[in-house]
Amino acid sequence: MMNKFSVVIAGGGSTFTPGIVMMLLDNSDRFPLRKLKLYDNDGDRQGILGEALAILLKEQAPEIEFSYTTDPEEAFSDIDFCMAHIRVGKYAMREKDEKVPLKHGVFGQETCGPGGIAYGMRSITGMLEIIDYMEKYSPEAWMLNYSNPAAIVAEACRVLRPASKVLNICDMPVGTLRRMSQIVGKKPEELEVRYFGLNHFGWWTSVKDKEGNEYLDQIREYVAENGYLTQIEVDTQHTDPSWQETHKKAKDILAVAPEYLPNTYLKYYLYPDYVTDHMQEHPEYTRANEVMAGREKTVFDHAKNIIENGSAKGIAFDIDAHASFIVDLARAIAYNTHERMVMIVENNGAIANFPDDAMVEVPCIVGVDGPEPLTQGYIPAFQQALMFQQVTVEKLVVEAYVEKSYQKMWQALTLSKTVPSAQVAKELLDDLIIENGDFWPELK
Ligand code: NAD
Ligand code: G6P
Ligand code: MN
Repeated sequence: MMNKFSVVIAGGGSTFTPGIVMMLLDNSDRFPLRKLKLYDNDGDRQGILGEALAILLKEQAPEIEFSYTTDPEEAFSDIDFCMAHIRVGKYAMREKDEKVPLKHGVFGQETCGPGGIAYGMRSITGMLEIIDYMEKYSPEAWMLNYSNPAAIVAEACRVLRPASKVLNICDMPVGTLRRMSQIVGKKPEELEVRYFGLNHFGWWTSVKDKEGNEYLDQIREYVAENGYLTQIEVDTQHTDPSWQETHKKAKDILAVAPEYLPNTYLKYYLYPDYVTDHMQEHPEYTRANEVMAGREKTVFDHAKNIIENGSAKGIAFDIDAHASFIVDLARAIAYNTHERMVMIVENNGAIANFPDDAMVEVPCIVGVDGPEPLTQGYIPAFQQALMFQQVTVEKLVVEAYVEKSYQKMWQALTLSKTVPSAQVAKELLDDLIIENGDFWPELK
């Protein structure tokens, strides 16, 4: 690889774009850039961030050739990495994913339950589109993909683009590790984990420092009382009131299976009735509304201020674990660092008693050829059974997409632990088909 890199950020209009750009600038000695491009299919949205970042880069890193475009050829030509975070249907559709299920007595969420299933059906088309652009214009490039729902996107990549250089990742394991590191008084980079599960559906089985001291018991004791709520905020992400609630709820997830430390997203599968009741208290104001009034507004207001002032001086975008993880990953591939990272990969024996062809989330050693999964051994029946049910839902969604099958989509919703019956699943599906319109393939 070259000693300076060219990166395109797909989903250039994302609320996370400025943070990743700032992180790239912060890392210019460890991961130097020659070119940085933004690509989005919504030119107006991206244009605001693009114009602001052009001003910022001119001031802070004039040596980097920066541009933003809606033209795929321009965006994807001559790149080494695509950092992707698209949201097909944008916030308007996230809001529907959250609110439509509620009408049927089921919670709505971005990546879990019916909301995640609906988003999965939309996301596959957008993902295939950008993967194909990358392979057409820069066949050697890697895509580092955050676009959700990562579990369904990863399964779709496995089935539909098996040879493509796409790595699917999630920031929840690194974000939660930051909290754990605060609990035990260490730096996150001093800790090494063992972890098994699916995306947004996993457990830590070990958290050790480099000398081999195990912190699982100490963290468990803390989480049993406080969940993952920490004294001082360890990050700028995952801090809104609804996230605080989620960190706290980890306490109740842990109580069900106290041997391992749970991913916060398990609350949606183990306590769906609690989540639904909670959402029913304010059905008009869901997480999508909280983000639009919060992160989205802040990021775009900052960008507009930069444009108005013609300068980025005095205006700072947040940078967090989310941004540092994707930059570390690019670096691990570019420089063959063999860093250990939790990633979404095809199982192939990493979890001994789980299907080879399941997309699982486990620690991997990452180098120039991508991730090499570390074996996590046998897992207990409780977790295995939950995971098998959930992974089958994810596989059914991808099969429904490929075969345009109404039947399989109905099965996916029926099988989801979050939906009470086949009847509710069918009513929900019929509603989701109408609400998603042309974003979904037409189901037969
Ligand atoms: P956002 O709506 O602010 O940004 C998404 C951008 O994608 C928009 O500008 C939109 O126009 C663009 N887009 C949609 N379809 C596209 C397509 N086909 N081609 C090109 N661009 C397209 O959303 P956000 O809140 O910033 O989140 C972005 C994505 O990152 C979401 O999918 C979110 O779930 C994901 N995310 C994932 C993780 C993770 O852990 N994996 C963490 C954070 C965010
Ligand atoms: C975590 C998850 C992401 C998810 C995000 C939602 O970081 O790992 O997959 O997209 O939370 O955050 P938001 O602030 O948009 O609700
Ligand atoms: Mn995630």
